[in-house]
Amino acid sequence: MQTIRGFRDILPEQIRLWQKVENLAVELFNAYGYQEIRIPILEKTGLFARSIGETTDIVEKEMYTFDDRNGDKLTLRPEATASICRAYIQHKLYATEPVRKFYMTGPMFRRERPQKGRYRQFYQIDAEVFGVDSAYVDCELIFLLHQLFKRLGLTGLTAQINSLGCPECRPKFTRALLDFLEERKQDLCEICTRRMTRNPLRVLDCKIQTCQAALIGAPATVDHLCPACEDHFNIVKTTLEKQGVDFSVNNSLVRGLDYYTRTAWEIQTTSLGAQSAVAGGGRYDGLVKQLGGPDTPAIGFAIGFDRLVEIMEQLTPMPADPGADLFIVALGDAAMETAYHLSCDLNQAGIKTDTDFRGKSLKALMKRADKLNARYVLIAGQTELNDNALILRNMKTKEQVSISMDRLVPEIEAVLKHK
Ligand code: HAM
Repeated sequence: MQTIRGFRDILPEQIRLWQKVENLAVELFNAYGYQEIRIPILEKTGLFARSIGETTDIVEKEMYTFDDRNGDKLTLRPEATASICRAYIQHKLYATEPVRKFYMTGPMFRRERPQKGRYRQFYQIDAEVFGVDSAYVDCELIFLLHQLFKRLGLTGLTAQINSLGCPECRPKFTRALLDFLEERKQDLCEICTRRMTRNPLRVLDCKIQTCQAALIGAPATVDHLCPACEDHFNIVKTTLEKQGVDFSVNNSLVRGLDYYTRTAWEIQTTSLGAQSAVAGGGRYDGLVKQLGGPDTPAIGFAIGFDRLVEIMEQLTPMPADPGADLFIVALGDAAMETAYHLSCDLNQAGIKTDTDFRGKSLKALMKRADKLNARYVLIAGQTELNDNALILRNMKTKEQVSISMDRLVPEIEAVLKHK
């Protein structure tokens, strides 16, 4: 039996980088006042169709959707923002606090063509802020990402930002874009010609080379912003510059989801082969209302956890396994019984103790202790049991002390906690 295409196991040998990233992210989220939220993996399909957009690639061709036994259409979440908005509205999370900041990590599902850094089950670290329309929140989120990547020692990442405007200025931009596209219709792919009527902004996102060539000189959203959106974008740019965040404005960055308004961004890398995004985010001031909640500005980002770890694998060695505090070498049946009870007691006391019940020789067990990187070894052979005292050996200094059986746990605790 094998995993299905695009799905994979993440083994204990690989997990320490994941833990390192997650611990640092959680530390930063806590410092910035974010609270953890956990959302279901399954939701009604309509939630994603309405928020991500009916004509996006995700909704049109990438969602894992099925009919439940009662006929409900359900979908494995392809992202977290829609679900977090649903939770925000369902539990009236706006009623208790005017500003809410959430984070979550977990698996997402998209039926894309698998390749390096692209999976059908992948993991995101997601952050969302509800209730503030200030451009400083946009900066805070981009800066937070910048800090996280910097503290993880990542280099060669570039931040690209754009402003997608608001319901006031977007229609004017769409008009200008359509006028431009109309003249080049014959050079666009079939999907893009369809997109022109259903979702013109998506044309800017087409990866097909002939379309990209036809789009040279296309109007830019930033040239059609209303004064409020323009002010907003200017604050974002000047603040990030002051903070030393390296970014560039990318006029063709429209993101693959329809809910965005104003600031949108991606953090790109070339270290996974073709250029790909390690994180993406943006403002979505209209989504909460659109899903039936109060008019609430909101903004967030998601990091591609798999991609981030893959970049780190190229740059940093896997953090070392901390190893066991103590390994009990138990020789013979009586010693094994003692070792069993002792290791339970020591584990309870928070001491990482390991032993081996396979009845191996002293030599084999000492080798195992070495392999497990144990700091101490406790030797329990027949002689030691007869003497009612076991030998504790410091594996580094090779020093040995004899400890009475009656005082084993407190004595070992004292030795280990002092070192
Ligand atoms: P997204 O750009 O669709 O945004 O995904 C965010 C990140 O998830 C991407 O930059 C990428 O690193 C990673 N990712 C996406 N698809 C895959 C895949 N198939 N395999 C591996 N990694 C992948 C969102 O999902 C939005 N919900 C972000 C957001 C939050 N916007 C506002 N709040």
